[in-house]
Amino acid sequence: MPEVKISASLDCANYLNLLHDIRQLEEGKVDMIHIDIMDGNFVPNFAVGTNLLRALRPLTSLFFDVHLMVQNPEPFIPIFAQLGADSITFHAEVTSRLHHLLSLVKKQGKKVGISLNPSTPPAFLEYLLPYLDMVLLMTVDPGFVGQKFVPEVIPKVGQVRAMMEKQGLDLDIEVDGGIGEKTVPLLKEKGANVFVGGTSSIFSGKEGVKEAALRFRRLCEES
Ligand code: DX5
Ligand code: ZN
Repeated sequence: MPEVKISASLDCANYLNLLHDIRQLEEGKVDMIHIDIMDGNFVPNFAVGTNLLRALRPLTSLFFDVHLMVQNPEPFIPIFAQLGADSITFHAEVTSRLHHLLSLVKKQGKKVGISLNPSTPPAFLEYLLPYLDMVLLMTVDPGFVGQKFVPEVIPKVGQVRAMMEKQGLDLDIEVDGGIGEKTVPLLKEKGANVFVGGTSSIFSGKEGVKEAALRFRRLCEES
């Protein structure tokens, strides 16, 4: 299985003190910043936009893990690539031209992922896996922080890991939504290795962001 990685959810950070939170994430040794991009259409919400990322990119060398929760990802692929995304993930539910979109991300020299909502069956991925670096399995319906974890995704992680192994692939499986003490061991056991830290862990507010990030890494590594 690939190594454990921590991706801190930007949407859960304190926007009024963002640079402080970013420095705390660096000191807390997270591997990536998980950047949720919303269009008010695929998900009924908005989050960060291009200007914030443009301002942020020169200030940190953390890996930008961009999650496009948008109905029409195609025009956004070059935009986020130029803004300094390191990986770009979009949803299987939004398009009938997935191979085309995957190749667009690859042409930009970026890592590429496909995300599935909790209700989308894993079989969808079978013919896509050889083109991917990562699968992002949503453990909540996308769009809002602090939602209730959907437990049916736990066996789904195992099914996707088995599908990868059958094809001789060792790709990242990222899980996003309600990831914390109760859910990490169950998801890791089934083969998840990239954990999005949001309000259930790094940004719970119970301790400083740095301490929480270090604690979350220990949890994910030792589970
Ligand atoms: C859903 C968001 C959240 C967030 C994590 O669209 O992507 O899942 O990153 O936040 P919590 O941990 O609050 O679910
Ligand atoms: Zn996300």
